[in-house]
Amino acid sequence: MRDRLIVLGIETSCDETAIAVVEDGPAGPTIRANLVQSQLAEHAPYGGVVPEIAARAHLDHVGALVRRALAEAGVAPAELDGVAAAAGPGLIGGLIVGTMTAKGLAWAAGKPFVAVNHLEAHALTARLTDRVAFPYLTLLVSGGHSQLLVSEGVGRHRQLGTTLDDAAGEAFDKTAKLLGLAYPGGPAIERAARGGDPARFALPRPLKGRAGCDFSFSGLKTAVRELVEAAPPAGPADIADLAAAIEAAICDALAERTARAARRFVRDYPAGRSLVAAGGVAANTRLRRRLAALAAEHGLDFVVPAPELCTDNGAMIAWAGLERLRLGLVDGLDAPVRPRWPLDPAARSGRGPRRKAA
Ligand code: KG4
Ligand code: ZN
Repeated sequence: MRDRLIVLGIETSCDETAIAVVEDGPAGPTIRANLVQSQLAEHAPYGGVVPEIAARAHLDHVGALVRRALAEAGVAPAELDGVAAAAGPGLIGGLIVGTMTAKGLAWAAGKPFVAVNHLEAHALTARLTDRVAFPYLTLLVSGGHSQLLVSEGVGRHRQLGTTLDDAAGEAFDKTAKLLGLAYPGGPAIERAARGGDPARFALPRPLKGRAGCDFSFSGLKTAVRELVEAAPPAGPADIADLAAAIEAAICDALAERTARAARRFVRDYPAGRSLVAAGGVAANTRLRRRLAALAAEHGLDFVVPAPELCTDNGAMIAWAGLERLRLGLVDGLDAPVRPRWPLDPAARSGRGPRRKAA
């Protein structure tokens, strides 16, 4: 295997068309290009992601974005070592657009195709940004997933806990909708919560103190609905206090479950050094602060990628593809898309395929 590898990655599993070119060499990894075309405007009128609209929008943008990413990186297709795409989990139409584009490019350039699990790509991003060594404890929190994993190696992520109902990002998105805030709800709640009083409204902390590392957020959503129905927010101050209470409740719940997992991780993996946060919700400043303190309490380093590498992006797919390619884990052009694709096949499945919105 060459000591320098360059991989193009395509992410189309939900509502972002994202393409990146990532290189790894003796000096460490570099992101040579990283482009994201968001579809927010297309989906906004519907209050969530419409799968058919997403698939068409990916198709409209993917070709031009691939050309732009290669141009920005200054790399010709013949210079790539492989082409990676998210093959699941996600919305089937988008997955087909992304993987077919990657396979076409790989075939035309005579390079290997790598089918990447979108969740693994989130979990491996901290190795791209900070070269974190295995094993590490991963809190993966996105629009469709909330999981605690021990990342033992490429393709080896042992699930310690998952959500019993809504994902953390979904809890942000659905409660934001109840407050009349824009989609995606996470950033909207974070903005609205600034200056708000998190203690004015009492919200539940689901599963607090219970054994295990699973999450549950549907009770929180119901509690917010009841509060809003009983006393509709009368102005920005009420919205700010409600948003602050929601953000605090979700961060508390995530931190409490992560603390349990950290105790297990430190006990069972004495070689483990790091707590890694990944996925869109890990862009949240309050959560990042909580997790940094929690990691320190357990003698772990806290590693979280920059916010734009927490939310869906192409660099994470290119990097996961590169890690797999380095191990010889390449796929045939007949590799299927997998709308459901659990990271830990031995674990209980939690719930259905990833969704982003209500
Ligand atoms: O990883 P991601 O971009 O897509 C999925 O794989 O689902 O995560 C999107 C989720 C959305 O639910 C969004 O509301 C949430 O991440 N999110 C945030 C923030 N930025 C994005 N949640 C809380 N605070 C944020 N700053
Ligand atoms: Zn994601």
